Amino acid sequence: MRGAPGPGVATGAIRIFDTTLRDGEQAPGAGLTVAEKLEVARQLAKLKVDVIEAGFPSASEGDFEAVRQIAEATKGIGVAALARCKEGDPQRAIDAIKVAERPHLHLFIATSDIHLTHKLRTTREAALAEAVKWVKYARERLGRDAEVEFSAEDASRTDHDYLLQVYAAVVEAGASTVNIPDTVGYAIPAEFGALTKRVVDLVGRDATVSVHCHNDLGLATANTLASVQAGARQVEVTINGLGERAGNASLEEVVMALRTRPGEFSSHNIGVQTEQLTAASRLVSYLTGFAVQPNKAIVGANAFAHESGIHQDGVLKNPLTYEIMTPQSVGLLGSSITIGKLSGRRGLQSKLAALGHDLTGEALDALYREAIALADVKKELTDADLLALVDKRAATGSAATIELLDWSIASSRGGGSSGRVEVRVNGAERGAESNGNGPVDALYAAIDRAVEKDLGWHPVLAEYEIRAVSEGEDAQGQVTARCRRSSDLNAEGHPNEGAPIVTGQGLSTNIIDASLVAYISAANKLAALASGAPSAPVEGSREAMK
Ligand code: KIV
Ligand code: ZN
Repeated sequence: MRGAPGPGVATGAIRIFDTTLRDGEQAPGAGLTVAEKLEVARQLAKLKVDVIEAGFPSASEGDFEAVRQIAEATKGIGVAALARCKEGDPQRAIDAIKVAERPHLHLFIATSDIHLTHKLRTTREAALAEAVKWVKYARERLGRDAEVEFSAEDASRTDHDYLLQVYAAVVEAGASTVNIPDTVGYAIPAEFGALTKRVVDLVGRDATVSVHCHNDLGLATANTLASVQAGARQVEVTINGLGERAGNASLEEVVMALRTRPGEFSSHNIGVQTEQLTAASRLVSYLTGFAVQPNKAIVGANAFAHESGIHQDGVLKNPLTYEIMTPQSVGLLGSSITIGKLSGRRGLQSKLAALGHDLTGEALDALYREAIALADVKKELTDADLLALVDKRAATGSAATIELLDWSIASSRGGGSSGRVEVRVNGAERGAESNGNGPVDALYAAIDRAVEKDLGWHPVLAEYEIRAVSEGEDAQGQVTARCRRSSDLNAEGHPNEGAPIVTGQGLSTNIIDASLVAYISAANKLAALASGAPSAPVEGSREAMK
């Protein structure tokens, strides 16, 4: 059979394939609950990416459920699921995406000798046969209109002649997209562009050629763009460059490069609403707990900040002197409306719309109440304060097992700390006291005591981080607490293999309160896991990639 290409890509267009929820989520500790993944998917839909890779259904029940729910809820764009070329995986992925308006199955198998010999313990011929077998299987089951993508894992370190043989065979078998992953971020731009051109020359008429670059040498964006210049028509990217190890090519960098330098790319048309980039970046950062470095291109806090007098003077005279794109084009600086305690709903709604969030009805009312309560303690709310409130609401997807009712603390320099908490656990009020070597430590220990009897475990802190979301003395503190369950640790206190780790966030002008909210939010996610409700994927499920 001569390829059965899927919908393909319009002339001059580049397909933006977002893999934040699959490769991005593979970043250690970035696990998201199903509710959080749906929230990110909604933002990606607003951003108007072309395809959302929603997960790897064979990795865990949670991943299957997340892909299925995103496939059901997302209209007008592709929903992809990853599967190995291995019995069971492709069918599981098909089951998860079959309800999608535009299903996109992503099959992969490693092709480099190093992976074939040491990881798969197989031969080039056997890997090629598996690839063809599963592409045919997928095409037969999904029909001619669905996208069937094939990735040759570690393509950049694969013998090129063999690699081309594999791509030709899978296109012949029905693959409509062939992806060239630089799995370990080994490639450099000229070389990767040349490889892409060979693939485009070979199969580019029958299939969409895609690239997927990792950032181990800091070259993921450069390699991606070199491939677009060589004829690639799909780019696989993540918000904030989140991903395995040093991450993936960053969506915002690739997209803004295409927008800012269209003359350098014969195909550069993208439908992305770049004004949603900042909102997407903040949401992903908030939910995963991975802060964006201040000097990160496009979405970092300093990306549009001018410090030196000469630069400030130039920008005031004409922004073009030092800005190659406007802050508004990436969704920064919504409008000049400021929000304080006398502001009305309409003002808040218009300010939020300018920041990329269209809220109406009960969602707007609830956010308005929170914003006015915050404005009671802070004179004026900044964009960062408002976005943090929106993120906080987005994150509260699952029903709470534990609620924080009250806390008090006595703490002195050199004298230790003793604290008391009142919580509600599954509807019953509990209180406990504890000492610690600081206020947060004492109160976390008190929470452990208060919840342990009812839950049979308590949260164990693995990482704690605090940062100010806005400026000034009355800035809100945002706390990230990454936790495991005590019942998932062995006798030495080390996590058992596959023990889930989740991220809780807390936001308040009082950093102790923010710390407790973050800890309880993580505990609630762990409780959802324990009750079998679909929640965060198990970190160790990355084992399944082997
Ligand atoms: O980096 C990689 O090779 C991947 C594939 C599964 C596409 O993520
Ligand atoms: Zn990858």
